[in-house]
Amino acid sequence: MTTSNPTMLSGISPSGRLTLGNYLGAIRNWVGAQGQFECFFPLVDLHAITVRQNPETFADRCLDFIAQYIACGIDPTENAIFVQSHVPEHSELAWILNCYAQTGELNRMTQYKDKSRRNVENMNAGLFGYPVLMAADILLYQATHVPVGEDQKQHLELTRDVAGRFNNLYGPVFTIPEPLIPAVGARVMSLQNPTRKMSKSDEVEGNLIVLLDSPDVISRKFKRAVTDSGNEIVQRVDKPGIANLLNIASATMNVSIDSLEERYRGKGYGQLKSDVADAVIALLEPVRQRYEEVRSDKNGLEDILAVGSEKARAKAAKTLTEVHRVLGLIPATSRDRTLDNGY
Ligand code: TRP
Repeated sequence: MTTSNPTMLSGISPSGRLTLGNYLGAIRNWVGAQGQFECFFPLVDLHAITVRQNPETFADRCLDFIAQYIACGIDPTENAIFVQSHVPEHSELAWILNCYAQTGELNRMTQYKDKSRRNVENMNAGLFGYPVLMAADILLYQATHVPVGEDQKQHLELTRDVAGRFNNLYGPVFTIPEPLIPAVGARVMSLQNPTRKMSKSDEVEGNLIVLLDSPDVISRKFKRAVTDSGNEIVQRVDKPGIANLLNIASATMNVSIDSLEERYRGKGYGQLKSDVADAVIALLEPVRQRYEEVRSDKNGLEDILAVGSEKARAKAAKTLTEVHRVLGLIPATSRDRTLDNGY
């Protein structure tokens, strides 16, 4: 059952707005992975409902995200771009895997511990099971590689543990996924609070660069970005603001940090900020323009999702059928014997 075709899977939850951090840390690498891997890009809406979403705007936000994926250069004919809830196998495998994940290991998830501190008024069971649903996302597609930032490493480790445990009991049903650690530029920090990651759910506008920000807004946000005392442009732990700007510069200009330090020796923070802003504008402006085009064609987007979920389902259903078989669940039969699924 386990396949060795290089298969990559990565999900983003449709909460907040896609940021420069999502672009440099994830989406840009997905674009580069096309052709090297069979790629699955679920928009994980069922993860998003672990916090309350507004039903009036949720569907539109999901389409906004999908249109941005495409505007960033993900080719929907080559890869499966789809919405998690369109493929019911995710929820079903998550249930089954719940019976193989231990409460002790879920209790140790640092993201869960953080969220339980922050969501006291809605500490629902979905937050506890969140990493199990993520494991289902990955294992359904026999993904060999999962690009993960620092904050998701532990969840991937859990996925590997649960898959290994299942395979030990029932045989090689699941491929054990490897982390794919992105190269430079992976970690973009908040502009006003540079010791914290730039978060797409942050409501403080000045903290983040949103993919769809206009050039004016981008310039203004960089101009106001927090810097550090002193005037040296170097990457140092006691200079998180400058380090963040250097990181963004390096990732957007494709220049090493060393040579940037060289380039800015004796220059002021203002120069660095305006250069970074220009580089980010040059990167995002085509995305923003393409987005307008893609997003305005709602039928086209829905067609893309239909094709994507069909592709995804073909693979997911195969894995789930195998899971049912090894567990000894009674095969579903059809009255039309020609549709018999071959148990
Ligand atoms: N938990 C991930 C995040 O917060 C999102 C996610 C859900 C994901 N399922 C996934 C990422 C599967 C990679 C693979 O960023």
